[in-house]
Amino acid sequence: MDDLLSIEDLDAGMITRILDTAEGLKDIAVRPIKKVPVLRGRTVCNLFYEDSTRTRISFEVAEKRLSADVINFSAKGSSVSKGESLKDTALTLQAMGVDAIVIRHSSSGAPRRLTEWVDAKVLNAGDGWHQHPTQALLDLFTIRERMGRLEGLNVAICGDVVHSRVARSLVQGLRIMGAEVTLVGPPTLMPAQVDSWDVTVSHDLDGMLADLDVCYLLRVQNERMAEQFFPSVREYARIWGMDIDRLEVMPDHAIVMHPGPMNRGVEISADVADAEQAVIVDQVTNGVAVRMACLYLMLGGEQAGADSEVTPA
Ligand code: CP
Repeated sequence: MDDLLSIEDLDAGMITRILDTAEGLKDIAVRPIKKVPVLRGRTVCNLFYEDSTRTRISFEVAEKRLSADVINFSAKGSSVSKGESLKDTALTLQAMGVDAIVIRHSSSGAPRRLTEWVDAKVLNAGDGWHQHPTQALLDLFTIRERMGRLEGLNVAICGDVVHSRVARSLVQGLRIMGAEVTLVGPPTLMPAQVDSWDVTVSHDLDGMLADLDVCYLLRVQNERMAEQFFPSVREYARIWGMDIDRLEVMPDHAIVMHPGPMNRGVEISADVADAEQAVIVDQVTNGVAVRMACLYLMLGGEQAGADSEVTPA
């Protein structure tokens, strides 16, 4: 892989290779020394123009476990506040010899623009409403780990689809891997072009619960809502929120997922968030392994080729 900008750029074989590589790397987290030397001497910059907890820390942990040198850049507190452009920031990093840039930006397409200015590999850590490819990959990994497969599964993605880069990426990833996807939520939170998404659209969450393998809840993104998309939070939670009564209707093997951060009591009740069927903490754990796999496949080169042994540092 040259860059990781969008799930659309991957095919089923490439996704399987990333997930298989992540599976091999996951056990590094439980070794006494949680480090392998495959990216020793490589420099990775985490360039975050938008707030993040999971993605930023997960990339940093992944980079450090692979022994890369890590630079953390947050737009807050940098020369961005003096008006420096993304291009000039990118050229500054390029001049310092970074090998890869992990970028989160509020503008859709910013990671692709970055590839025009730097030789470094670019990994999209979330751009606007557009894409969040490593989130989709960690979600696919988590589903495959729990279910043993992706093909043929029934997955509902529920809630604020219109504002969600997670939904856009995950739908593409699930469809590439042969899962069936239903988007469910209020009509006001469905994208205008949803007909072109190769999914089923429903406005009846209760009617589908008994047939689901996975119920993936999206965060209600209040910060992206300039107008009122539903009557009240209470009304949203009543009709679209996952609570214990709804969880009990789902099959025993089914799982509940959420990309985080959660609005407990809105799209997911607190007791469901902490229930055994909720794999939200597993998603976070798997995110480190999946990001390690992406970095390893993109930057490892011959030293870290697919067949080479991953030994402790
Ligand atoms: N899921 C996710 O992208 O979370 P953060 O915004 O905390 O990185």
